[in-house]
Amino acid sequence: MVNIAVLTSGGGTNLEAILNAEERGDIKSGKVQIVIADRAGCYSLVRAENHKKKNLLLNRKELGRKEFEKRLVETLICEKIDLIVLAGFLSILSEDFTEFYRDRIINIHPSLIPSFSGEGYYGLKVHEAALKRGVKVTGATVHLVNEIPDGGKILFQKAVEVKDGDTPEALQKRVMEEAEWIILPMAVEYMADKIDKERV
Ligand code: GRF
Repeated sequence: MVNIAVLTSGGGTNLEAILNAEERGDIKSGKVQIVIADRAGCYSLVRAENHKKKNLLLNRKELGRKEFEKRLVETLICEKIDLIVLAGFLSILSEDFTEFYRDRIINIHPSLIPSFSGEGYYGLKVHEAALKRGVKVTGATVHLVNEIPDGGKILFQKAVEVKDGDTPEALQKRVMEEAEWIILPMAVEYMADKIDKERV
């Protein structure tokens, strides 16, 4: 059984999708052992409590980047974490960190990478850019995390139609419902199964 940590910075709807998938038995090769938030007030920690999952606030603003990462690594090692899932996680992780956990970190990005990805593209900004460009199709991507923002190997993608009159909020909601919440749990099971098999 692969030990999973989910890192969050916000509402935690992607975390909710993962925990529901685990409870349904769609994620069977791994188990979420801890949920970590990098800022105060994340509803993701309430969701973790509701699912009786260990959870921790590591306040990056108060700790500073170095101390934040030090405590993050200590926690991940203590929990014997094999797979790290960035689910609406907004902090930039150092190259040392991504190298230490090479091929063990996945991220959900709310567009079809390489479109609308990289430095400065996160949350609503992604959907604002897609609407501004006038694309007819967008979607979500799950990718491995390396030192390049949104630059790691693409694992899963799912397309979503852009509708006339879409606001950024309406488009974000559709991309979450029709793409993110579907491919992230799939990617978690895929990676957990892969790690599990590599260990035998
Ligand atoms: C969403 O825009 C999602 O696409 C991105 O982070 C935002 C919040 O996600 N990955 P969540 O509700 O905190 O999972």
